[in-house]
Amino acid sequence: MRNMILTVAALVPLAALGARALAADPPAAAASPPPGPGLDLINQRCIFCHNTAQIFSQRKTPEAWAATIEQMANRGAEVSPEEIKVMADYLAKNYGAPAAAAAAPPAPPQPK
Ligand code: HEC
Repeated sequence: MRNMILTVAALVPLAALGARALAADPPAAAASPPPGPGLDLINQRCIFCHNTAQIFSQRKTPEAWAATIEQMANRGAEVSPEEIKVMADYLAKNYGAPAAAAAAPPAPPQPK
């Protein structure tokens, strides 16, 4: 009997730790797209053929985003040139590829 009480006493703090670890996990909200002028447009214009996860999983330069949206327009997405610009700006800002990584030469080795 005494052993059992000791076991329970040892488990309770562990359970509390577990709960705290779960609470500390970043919420799913971290993965959801930040608000911005382009988001409403994307949610309206870009969901006929695929979901937005396909969009928000990409990282592209501003030029590449604009090119992607123009491709989508060729496929049938109904977007005006002005809307393309708003969405491309939004996507490049929030889902941008570091342009420098593609264009710049590799950084020189850092002194240790
Ligand atoms: C008329 C249908 C249609 C609409 C509307 C549409 N798409 Fe697409 N999209 C596709 C198809 C089909 C594919 C898959 C073929 C491919 O990967 O090239 C795709 C793939 C993608 C991809 C992944 C491939 C890549 O090139 O990065 C992205 C990102 C994307 N779409 C963004 C958008 C955005 C942003 C919009 C809104 C402006 C949009 N799509 C609206 C048809 C559409």
